[in-house]
Amino acid sequence: LDNGVGRTPPMGWNSWNTFGCNISESLIRQMADSMVSTGMRDAGYQYVVVDDCWFNPNRDSAGNLQGDPTRFPSGMKALGDYLHGKGLKFGLYEAPLDKTCAQYFNSYPGATGSQGHEAQDARQFAAWGVDYLKYDWCSPTGTINDQVSTFAKMRDALAATGRPILYSINSNSVHAKTGPQRNWGDVANIWRTTEDIQLSWDTGQTNGYPMGVKNIVDVNVPLAGYARPGGFNDPDMMEVGRGTLSDAEQRSHFALWAVMASPLIAGNDIRSMSSATQTILKNTRLIAINQDTLGLQASSIVADGNQRVLAKRLANDDVAVALFNQSGSTRTISTTAAAIGKSGSSFTLVDAWTGATTTTSGTISASVPSHATVVYRVSGGSTGNPPTPSTTTLVSASSG
Ligand code: GLA
Repeated sequence: LDNGVGRTPPMGWNSWNTFGCNISESLIRQMADSMVSTGMRDAGYQYVVVDDCWFNPNRDSAGNLQGDPTRFPSGMKALGDYLHGKGLKFGLYEAPLDKTCAQYFNSYPGATGSQGHEAQDARQFAAWGVDYLKYDWCSPTGTINDQVSTFAKMRDALAATGRPILYSINSNSVHAKTGPQRNWGDVANIWRTTEDIQLSWDTGQTNGYPMGVKNIVDVNVPLAGYARPGGFNDPDMMEVGRGTLSDAEQRSHFALWAVMASPLIAGNDIRSMSSATQTILKNTRLIAINQDTLGLQASSIVADGNQRVLAKRLANDDVAVALFNQSGSTRTISTTAAAIGKSGSSFTLVDAWTGATTTTSGTISASVPSHATVVYRVSGGSTGNPPTPSTTTLVSASSG
């Protein structure tokens, strides 16, 4: 979406994965403070996104949305001001039909979706200083064409406010379980491509709930051709730092989100994260690869049950290569400079995890532990024939 924001994948934090509906202004303020004190903000994580359950279950007499008066007693404008005062940006959740997901599943009262209130709500968000709207379709009803027109309505309402607001959509229950039904790049800045991520590695499920990290990668990789500045595939928020996943799995999760040009939205409790978690989330080399201004998602070079090799062309003609070991034991994973579109006789490899630099005349290879991912930034030679990101064919429903 060409609205001036989201030219690189958004980075931030979202309340849902750890806190669900148990949110309050004091929690969000503490998280904002921790985004600053831990260096997350300075590493690039800007948006603090307040997910479902922030609102009063009733609109006011003029039909305006209001913050929940008990948990957000200072109001949403004050929260936005607080975040802006910390050098952060304000994200908020809403839903396009009558109910948010928590309302739909009866875990929160009311029916305060934006349906019929789009322009009013967009103006309200702008007045509160909202910088990011997560707009979450939560109903099994509606066709793809209904979704296109409904999501486009809020796109236009946000544009009419004159405030640059990053627009994040989730077609949720209506998307094909194996990925989005259409290329949403004309409607939104980021669009969810899968069911909600779970705190697990592999549920064996690639076409529906529940999906682990590896299953989400399987769905999101073939959508690479749809990513570009202003519009990115969104394989959901991160589970890094939330326990359960091994260190190798958490590193793979982050490395793969980085090369897939995915939004990097942390979902852990920033106030208490370990130094191991910080080492992952603040990896400057991977963040630079993710935030590269070409805005390309990595192409798939090799994909089989044991391994994936992904290559992401970067603005300065370097190429980031991810060697992902999906198998149960350590294996050597290899590709070549030619396979990632480079020609020449000498290349430099910088290991994104260790910073170690090596040179090669063409072979790009590493011994990769089970479920781990080695990422190299490859420079040198010329990048004449870069791999082309694939585009799984989607339906073409027009946005009118
Ligand atoms: C849906 C979304 C999640 C989260 C919840 C909130 O499931 O996909 O990311 O926003 O709703 O209820």
